[in-house]
Amino acid sequence: MIHKNMDSARQGASCPSQQSAADQQRARIQDALSKIRHKIFVLSGKGGVGKSSISANLASALAKKGYRTGLMDVDVHGPSIAHMMGVTDLLDVSPDQQRLLPKQVNENLLVVSVQSLIPEKDQAIIWRGPAKTSMIQQFIGSVEWGDLDFLIIDAPPGTGDEPITIVQNISEALGIIVTTPQEVSLADVRKSISFCNTVKLKPLGIVENMAGFRCPHCNEPIELFASGGGQKTANAQGLDFLGSIPFDLNVVASGDAGTPLMLGDRQTDFTRAFSEIVDKILKQLK
Ligand SMILES: Nc1ncnc2c1ncn2[C@@H]1O[C@H](COP(=O)(O)OP(=O)(O)OP(=O)(O)O)[C@@H](O)[C@H]1O
Ligand SMILES: [Mg+2]
Repeated sequence: MIHKNMDSARQGASCPSQQSAADQQRARIQDALSKIRHKIFVLSGKGGVGKSSISANLASALAKKGYRTGLMDVDVHGPSIAHMMGVTDLLDVSPDQQRLLPKQVNENLLVVSVQSLIPEKDQAIIWRGPAKTSMIQQFIGSVEWGDLDFLIIDAPPGTGDEPITIVQNISEALGIIVTTPQEVSLADVRKSISFCNTVKLKPLGIVENMAGFRCPHCNEPIELFASGGGQKTANAQGLDFLGSIPFDLNVVASGDAGTPLMLGDRQTDFTRAFSEIVDKILKQLK
């Protein structure tokens, strides 16, 4: 049974599944994952550092390059991907009622967000761990992803139910750790790295976001959150540094408008830095 909305998902979670149902769920997840070449999990130790913006833009950039890409938002308490991608409708169900249909943003880009389960836009989801786990497993196994080159996964910060469910169900996922350059964020990055080591999630590397801002009046660079911390932490932890992304007011506007910058053709400080990171990721995966 698939959960098209919150109530049924909650009921499903509170009803202990029988062994055969659990086996079927596992088989569905394995089948879905076998058709997806690369699974990339965007994570951070600290909130608000830009995970969702990076997930949305990474998925957009890969789709624009011709890769079939899925974007999965499992941030139950603060889903922002639907808004950032301009997805407003609820998810549809396949004619046989067995699968959820992802939202199609363009010919290469599919999106599934927790937000697309909630009829009331501003309604909070109040779930405990088992309901979240059940929903995430359905997002992997009961969504009609089809054949994908990439699945990008956006989760809440930290090491709670959602990140754990992702790594438990997608053991081959690769992590991208997002931080801002200042020490208070980097302390949390070290926790993310410890999380990766503990749960055996292989990190592709660290991305430093909001690193520098060009003043729109005098064009002088301003270091909003200090600089160089991402590179230093990557070096110290023996991880790849994937690159720095500047603070760019266009990111805020494009996120609010529902069209990530990397989906369009506009060149900004953000898109130039972001393109280099995408190329680095693709090179690593070759
Ligand atoms: N490089 C950037 N330049 C300007 N604004 C940015 C940049 N990256 C992210 N933002 C803005 O910062 C805010 C937080 O970003 P985002 O929602 O992507 O962070 P998050 O890590 O997913 O947050 P949460 O932990 O709450 O899920 C958003 O308003 C977003 O538009
Ligand atoms: Mg987010």
